[in-house]
Amino acid sequence: MLQTVKKYQFKTLGDDRGKLIALESLSEQAPFDIKRVYYIFDTMPGTIRGTHAHKKLKQVLICVSGSCVIRCDLGDGSPVDYLLNWPDQGLLLEGLVWRDMLQFSKDATLLVLASDHYDESDYIRNYDTFLKEVARGK
Ligand code: TYD
Repeated sequence: MLQTVKKYQFKTLGDDRGKLIALESLSEQAPFDIKRVYYIFDTMPGTIRGTHAHKKLKQVLICVSGSCVIRCDLGDGSPVDYLLNWPDQGLLLEGLVWRDMLQFSKDATLLVLASDHYDESDYIRNYDTFLKEVARGK
């Protein structure tokens, strides 16, 4: 069963005027057709978002300003925290990955590139169901 969590360091383009990062569909940094973009901002201190897994959706998360932590759990009892604190970092999540998003700085804007349109039926919001799905895939 494919469960991918991969941190990217994007190539920064730029010159005297400043920096620029470009991401394209079906590229190394976004290995899927980008069908949806959303962003999370103005997050209340102490908030934990996410707390779900996806059945099929692939996502790349980029904290384009400020910082936050993405806690990734593959159902193996050892969740791993990924700090995103610079716009040249991305985190690819693919397959059954339970994710919590936390420790948002006041100025955090978390941009998400997604492989599909919003579909509530793709969410696994119950942790026990998630663990059962992981076990089933083994
Ligand atoms: P929610 O799933 O709680 O976001 P997160 O997992 O990031 O904490 O989504 C909050 C609300 O926004 C919920 O009513 C569903 C809606 N929503 C959309 O309509 N489209 C989207 O692309 C997303 C991510 C959420």
